[in-house]
Amino acid sequence: MAIFLDSSDLNEIRQFMATGIVSGITTNPLIISKENPGVDLKTHVMEIISMARVPTSVELTTETEAEMLAEAREYVKWYPKHIVIKVPMTEGGLRVIHTLERHDNTPVNVTCIMSFNQAYVSALAGATYVSIFSGRVRDMGYEPAKIIEQTRALLDRENLKAQIIVGSIRHIGDVNEALHAGAHIVTVPPAILRKTFWNPRTTETIREFNDAWKVDRAKKK
Ligand code: E4P
Repeated sequence: MAIFLDSSDLNEIRQFMATGIVSGITTNPLIISKENPGVDLKTHVMEIISMARVPTSVELTTETEAEMLAEAREYVKWYPKHIVIKVPMTEGGLRVIHTLERHDNTPVNVTCIMSFNQAYVSALAGATYVSIFSGRVRDMGYEPAKIIEQTRALLDRENLKAQIIVGSIRHIGDVNEALHAGAHIVTVPPAILRKTFWNPRTTETIREFNDAWKVDRAKKK
């Protein structure tokens, strides 16, 4: 199992890479436009990858197959070793996934997946990653855990190479649920990832120990 950071914020990426708990980065056009409005995509992606040196998903913004392929091939040139092309789950997207994976040998992360069937066909098309959107699935009244479990069981049974990334994480409970349900990877926004290692009782205990130490040292003087 692994944790990716769902962010394009350079400062957050730097902080989390230094902890050693993050082994990949995912971005999308909404995240980039919120965190870095107006940024030059190529410059920014190159900065992320030169710092993090981990698989970094960059999403296509075009919608025809020809445009998607051209866009993907342009992205790959920026940093062939670490770029992962995020292809939205559509019929045309499946053909793009297949071409990129089988002919170009480029890793693809299929994004915006809301169902088991979409995850399965993406894996059959040859995707390296299938991204199931936990929060958005739950918004529609479905149980993300069920979709994750069923997808994992099928990928294992059919020996398909795709790894499940669970994204659209809204709460710390979504992270735990995804990992228990069989996600290979959970991609987590910085604010939620921080909550996985913060606990008020821990903070209070550290304070208590260090305050006692300070009082003791002061007595010694
Ligand atoms: C995953 O790769 C996506 O970037 C992300 O998690 C999207 O989720 P959201 O827009 O529902 O937060």
